[in-house]
Amino acid sequence: MYGRIRPVIIDILTLFPDMFNGPFDTGIFNRAVSGGLVEVRLHNIRDYTHDKHHITDDYPFGGGGGMVLKPEPIFEAVEAVNKDRPEAEASPPVILLTPQGRPFNQQIAEELAGKKRLVLICGHYEGVDERVRQHLATDEISIGDYVLSGGEPAAIVVIDAVVRLLPGVLGREASTLGGSHTSGLLQFPQYTRPARYRNWEVPEVLLSGDHARITAWRREQAVSRTARRRPELLENAELTQREGRLAERLRKEDTC
Ligand SMILES: C[S@@+](CC[C@H](N)C(=O)[O-])C[C@H]1O[C@@H](n2cnc3c(N)ncnc32)[C@H](O)[C@@H]1O
Repeated sequence: MYGRIRPVIIDILTLFPDMFNGPFDTGIFNRAVSGGLVEVRLHNIRDYTHDKHHITDDYPFGGGGGMVLKPEPIFEAVEAVNKDRPEAEASPPVILLTPQGRPFNQQIAEELAGKKRLVLICGHYEGVDERVRQHLATDEISIGDYVLSGGEPAAIVVIDAVVRLLPGVLGREASTLGGSHTSGLLQFPQYTRPARYRNWEVPEVLLSGDHARITAWRREQAVSRTARRRPELLENAELTQREGRLAERLRKEDTC
């Protein structure tokens, strides 16, 4: 269905591989996997321990509550998954999911969508030994300014945002074009049938069949919506002078 191209390989290192059952088994992601565009490989960090009890965490030096993931199994897991890879996949980004990482956004998703392979490390408990961050991870990503109990939901968020950008993944029911954040703006309002529902009508312009008017309306809606909801995004958006004036006016109105 998608031709014979090499799948993007995503290696996930986790203590809880079962948390990935479900999110990747349905919809667009499932199609991408069965179409050979993506391959997700789950690696249990516990399998890289050598002691009888498969211990992966220990008390923090210096005291304090909680447990810290030990460095050895994580280093060994990354080294094992990187071993004997073809050259193009030999040194992938090794991404540590952490609330201290760079804030994830569409630009980072696009950057990662250009890679042949990704390795994601999911932390747990109080986090991972600092030497993993210093000497193993090549990138650190946070999905927001809040603390999750583990990196698994963060990995799912990152992978979802990346995979939908891969060529051939989205079918006709979805598109990356004009979506929120792709052009630096939030998306314009969307409507579908019926044209009238409980007395609420779809804006006339969308039913007009006049593509130039529709495009202009959508653009203006995207600019005004962004100005009202996320004005800081406009600093990096490309606006015409007219759009700039509109955004400025809306910003002022909302602060009055
Ligand atoms: C309870 S958190 C540890 C937080 C750490 N003690 C701190 O204050 O920076 C456990 C794990 O969840 C993941 N995690 C938590 N919040 C995250 C976020 N906002 N983005 C990405 N990963 C997160 C990380 O993998 C982290 O190692």
